[in-house]
Amino acid sequence: MSFDASEYGRHVAEVYDEAYAHLTPDAAVERLAALADGGPVCEFGIGTGRLALPLVARGLTVAGIEGSPEMVAGLREKPGGDAIEVAVGDFAETRVPGEFALVVLAFNTIFALPDQAAQVACFRNAAAHLRPGGRFVVEAWVPDPGAFRAGGALRPVRVAEDAVLLEAALLHPAEQRMTTTKVRLSSAGVQLLPANHRYAWPAELDLMAELAGLRREHRWADWTGRPFTDDSRDHVSVYRRPERA
Ligand SMILES: C[S@@+](CC[C@H](N)C(=O)[O-])C[C@H]1O[C@@H](n2cnc3c(N)ncnc32)[C@H](O)[C@@H]1O
Repeated sequence: MSFDASEYGRHVAEVYDEAYAHLTPDAAVERLAALADGGPVCEFGIGTGRLALPLVARGLTVAGIEGSPEMVAGLREKPGGDAIEVAVGDFAETRVPGEFALVVLAFNTIFALPDQAAQVACFRNAAAHLRPGGRFVVEAWVPDPGAFRAGGALRPVRVAEDAVLLEAALLHPAEQRMTTTKVRLSSAGVQLLPANHRYAWPAELDLMAELAGLRREHRWADWTGRPFTDDSRDHVSVYRRPERA
């Protein structure tokens, strides 16, 4: 399957910050800073720096890999955005120089890769960036078989006085794929944010980590560290490279 790591940003870069301005990064940044323990961080899919810039503000060294030149341009426009080293390319295979204490892949972006093989390659690439004892953190949603039964879905993501964000999704359970477009309605008009997902359950991600030589250290329901339970709709999973091979 042909895959273009720059496609998401081409559609979304112009409206990304505005559409997700309601997502406060504080809990994620707090947790990531604790997991990095002072060491350098590499963010896969660094985007416009929603997480990376606050991490830099905390004194951490941050680098990134990003498929979209438009998203990187958005990062560069922000104060401090110029100082972050970013390699433009697919995070399943692109390398940035250095050994990192922490590799981050947030906001469901592991699912942006088109198939299982690419996701396994991404785990291997994350492991290759880690120093011994380093961590790979993945934030993703948990597939919901009930929601998938009907084959499609339309759901409100955010309803506020100034804007409404809806998500229309077509689901392809046999291939664990979801075609989705978020629709943002505001006084600025209608904006479309398309994204395709190859989703996976947490247990499959754990196996990908094992294949990459990583072991799961934590799984929480969110960045605040709430326990992961039967009802959890998202997870934050932390995988660790052993201190010794
Ligand atoms: C949902 S955004 C998240 C951005 C940022 N991490 C955040 O939390 O705001 C996903 C980002 O990953 C990038 N991306 C998606 N697939 C990619 C790939 N295979 N390789 C590199 N970047 C990719 C997109 O261009 C986009 O900037």
